[in-house]
Amino acid sequence: MKAFIHIGKPGLENTCYTDMVEGEPKKGEVKVRVKAAGLNHRDIWSLYRRGEEAGPVILGSDGAGVIHSVGEGVENVRLGDEIIINPSLGWLHKSDAQPNEFEVIGVPTNGTFAEYIIIPAENVEPKPKYLSWEEAGVIPVAALTAYRALFTRGKLQSNQTVLVPGIGSGVAIFVMLMAKAAGARVIVTSRSTKKCQQAIKLGADLAIDSESDWNEALDGEIIDLIIDSVGAATWDKALSVLKKGGSIVNFGATSGQKVEIDLRNLYFGQYNILGTTLGSHKEFREMIQFVEKHEIKPVIDKVYYHKDTIKAFERMNEGSQFGKICLIMD
Ligand SMILES: NC(=O)c1ccc[n+]([C@@H]2O[C@H](COP(=O)([O-])OP(=O)(O)OC[C@H]3O[C@@H](n4cnc5c(N)ncnc54)[C@H](OP(=O)(O)O)[C@@H]3O)[C@@H](O)[C@H]2O)c1
Repeated sequence: MKAFIHIGKPGLENTCYTDMVEGEPKKGEVKVRVKAAGLNHRDIWSLYRRGEEAGPVILGSDGAGVIHSVGEGVENVRLGDEIIINPSLGWLHKSDAQPNEFEVIGVPTNGTFAEYIIIPAENVEPKPKYLSWEEAGVIPVAALTAYRALFTRGKLQSNQTVLVPGIGSGVAIFVMLMAKAAGARVIVTSRSTKKCQQAIKLGADLAIDSESDWNEALDGEIIDLIIDSVGAATWDKALSVLKKGGSIVNFGATSGQKVEIDLRNLYFGQYNILGTTLGSHKEFREMIQFVEKHEIKPVIDKVYYHKDTIKAFERMNEGSQFGKICLIMD
């Protein structure tokens, strides 16, 4: 089968679209014919975290497809079922943090940027019918992360205002769409005027320049909750606009992972600083129900053929995307 892999030294230059041996599902596993998959920043970080002489691994954590074959004892799906892949391995129940055995599909295990993937049967859920293959393929990581950040960790209420820095991020767009669907007021930031305008078109109540003075731009708005993944570049600005007793939930550090915290400011502001990462199977099912109920569709930035996966990585490296970058396998 065709697959996009990383092998050898760190870096995008050590990736290729090549032939890999197809396996067969063992007990409790399913083999999925992947129809579409989404890129995440994780796919780029993975290229630099595998050591100096890494063996071949298929990249990719997001995907949707059709059940091709099933291993012994599998009862939750049948051949031909259209499914969406849950990227969380080993995290079944909602909990304060992931269990030690938790992993994400796609590094260290083989991922979704292939014609076929073999995964535990518990990692597939029915594909919502209103979504195209491209839309279903890019949902898993971003929408699951957004759902847990907003609702499980952030405990968003419909009468609250949420601030989402760096709206160009695929996860941030899901945060915005889900928060709007839940009835909250949503303010976003971006370094790009065009992305600010796109966010307003999608329902953001206000979009401000990430490089501006946020206190001035927000003009006294009360921010109850911030869902952040930009990290270092905007951390101080974010905390400076959060209401006393408000919460900031962080799930990424695209611009840098080291920030300074003024402890006097922290205790006096009584802020809740929370981390989050992906989500459990329970949250994945809740997220699918939520997006189905509100007919939330991902924003797709660009679609690439599988053989052109390298171009999709280059687009993500440039950082000019608005929404999810998608691969189609057929
Ligand atoms: N923990 C988890 O489970 C999990 C899951 C998914 C993603 N993540 C992490 O979340 C982050 C977001 O991932 P993503 O793939 O959706 O998006 P991304 O491509 O990393 O983009 C994030 C956005 O951050 C903004 N940004 C980047 N550098 C900036 C800077 N110097 N100053 C101000 N803004 C800046 C940009 O927004 P504008 O272009 O609008 O300015 C950019 O579009 C990544 O770090 C990823 O690793 C974590």
